[in-house]
Amino acid sequence: MAGKEIKVAGEENITSVLHEDRLFKPSEAFSSQAHVKSRQDYDRLYRKAEKDPEGFWGELAKDLHWFKPWEKVLQWKAPFAKWFVGGSINVSYNCLDRHLKTWRKNKAAIIWESEQGESRTLTFQTLHREVCKFANVLKDQGLKKGDRVVIYMPMIPELSIAMLACARIGATHSIIFGGFSASAIKDRINDAEAKLVVTADGGFRKGSVVTLKDKVDEALKETPSVERMIVVQRTQSPVTMQENRDFWWHDLMSTASADCKATPLNSEHPLFILYTSGTTGKPKGVVHTTAGYLLGTTVTSKWIFDLKDTDTYWCTADIGWITGHSYIIYGILSNGVTSLMYEGVPTYPHPGRFWEIVEKYRVNIFYTAPTAIRALTKFGEKWPKKYDLSSLRLLGTVGEPINPEAWMWYHRVIGKEQCPIVDTWWQTETGGIMITPLPGAIPTKPGSATLPFPGIAIDVVNREGKPVPADVGGYLVVKRPWPSMIRTVWRNPDRYKLTYWSDIPGVYFTGDGARRDKDGYVWVMGRVDDVINVSGHRLGTMEVESALVSHSKVAEAAVVGRPDEIKGTGIAAFVTLEGGQKPTEAFKKTLKAHVSKEIGAIARPDDIRFTDFLPKTRSGKIMRRLLRDIAAGRESVGDITTLEDYTVLAKLRQEDDA
Ligand code: WT7
Repeated sequence: MAGKEIKVAGEENITSVLHEDRLFKPSEAFSSQAHVKSRQDYDRLYRKAEKDPEGFWGELAKDLHWFKPWEKVLQWKAPFAKWFVGGSINVSYNCLDRHLKTWRKNKAAIIWESEQGESRTLTFQTLHREVCKFANVLKDQGLKKGDRVVIYMPMIPELSIAMLACARIGATHSIIFGGFSASAIKDRINDAEAKLVVTADGGFRKGSVVTLKDKVDEALKETPSVERMIVVQRTQSPVTMQENRDFWWHDLMSTASADCKATPLNSEHPLFILYTSGTTGKPKGVVHTTAGYLLGTTVTSKWIFDLKDTDTYWCTADIGWITGHSYIIYGILSNGVTSLMYEGVPTYPHPGRFWEIVEKYRVNIFYTAPTAIRALTKFGEKWPKKYDLSSLRLLGTVGEPINPEAWMWYHRVIGKEQCPIVDTWWQTETGGIMITPLPGAIPTKPGSATLPFPGIAIDVVNREGKPVPADVGGYLVVKRPWPSMIRTVWRNPDRYKLTYWSDIPGVYFTGDGARRDKDGYVWVMGRVDDVINVSGHRLGTMEVESALVSHSKVAEAAVVGRPDEIKGTGIAAFVTLEGGQKPTEAFKKTLKAHVSKEIGAIARPDDIRFTDFLPKTRSGKIMRRLLRDIAAGRESVGDITTLEDYTVLAKLRQEDDA
């Protein structure tokens, strides 16, 4: 493997050390049974969509259930899209009711496995029943179409029931990952102006109880919009129930009627808001709507995971992230396929847990994150070798670039060299997968997400929006609207416009750098903005900085990513202290805990360095590139002529040696 320096025109250099020539073709056996069987089939689909995108998506949309058909496939007033204008549809109906009229009625919709190994199966029929009941509970609590419901729950079936119940009555859900702190919950509730919160007393994580309701209680001290809280009893941990505000799930469900028709909703009705980090200190509420999102996730699920009615499909993500929304629940259930849902983490109670579950349920399709693969690689081949993995036929990855070593391990040790691997590139904002191999059609190269999904018009361009030649790095953009795209930032269309549609003229800017090789394969190189990817989760460095400076003893903070073997990127913070505060190890611990409390454990810095000054340009901009080099232990190669004070650098390095 030879190193390669990739330059992004007019920007800092992006170095791609990846040069990968290995090519893995899907087997004849796989291709012949796949939905998309060959490169020719893919090319045909791709060209068809290129020629007539609206015709392409319109035809596919006919496979969904509509209360009333649409009048116009797309109304595009850049950068605002409306898909399937005039149509009336319901996501919960498409995921549940339409299967009840078929033999799938008693098929497993969700198979849930707890951390301790208990299991619960909900068929399409029983899931439908629970969803209808909870939809009635929501209505009884006064929830109306368009009201926002915040869901803060562990990975238990009630989480799926709650989201599908919201979708059923047109309440817009906003799920907050269970690892976020009270203060993060408060900000999200207030931004969304949620009326109701669904939570649990707690959840299990690595054998211990993680409490949840207490965090909501704390958040609710400053959230005037919330009227009610519904609490699932999962861990039996002690909680205080506030009268007339807090209700037990099981109490309300015990008397709820199971009769609840799905509300016909406008195609563009907001299905959910999901908060994600950006380049400012404040997370953005990404808004996804009904019909386009459903179509995008349904079609991508079917073709990319090659879903068949006989499959047991397992995505290991948490539903609190977009991956779980799209590829545990909506896209999978809408296809009538069995989705396995796991409560726990990969390594508890032992590093063979994932493979034990694959064996137990004879999982056929397995979708996980590179960080999990890297972590499991460390424990050695003996763990997967203990279990029968022969049911697996397709593997997938998502969240960050996968390094070829991890890819090869996945291919060899888990897939036994028999399973295609789909490396799927997408974002919270894209709603569904955008760049990916179609497993029966596209030979893969370890580390490349390969080619765009049919109907998705991507490009790699320079600042001016001009395509760059093969093997030259540039910005990854999307040139045409797509059905599952973000519609706006919640109550902030200006921010939507500014963040995604302003940097590069006329296109959607992803925030990622990429290059295409001579075969047109896309190699995503990572973020080019102040966003870092920690274990496949997006974090804004500004958010962590704001959390740090919110501590009274911190004067200034700069946060950068640095390479981490397991997480992909670790968090390094450079902090200047207020007078009187000593730069002690104990205070580093205090600050790490402070960030956990402000945002959540995922944002906890791996490394804090105290410094008297931060390196700045004469105009006062923090020189992050230098800090990145220092955090990574690299010699700085870049231009430092604009550095205000050269001695700063020397001082920071001394700190490094200490
Ligand atoms: C960012 C989006 C949507 C899935 C979970 C993350 C990075 C995602 C890949 C991939 C290289 C990837 C990008 C993207 N990313 N998938 N297959 N190869 N990079 O969602 O939190 O919205 O983050 O994750 O940098 O912009 P997210």
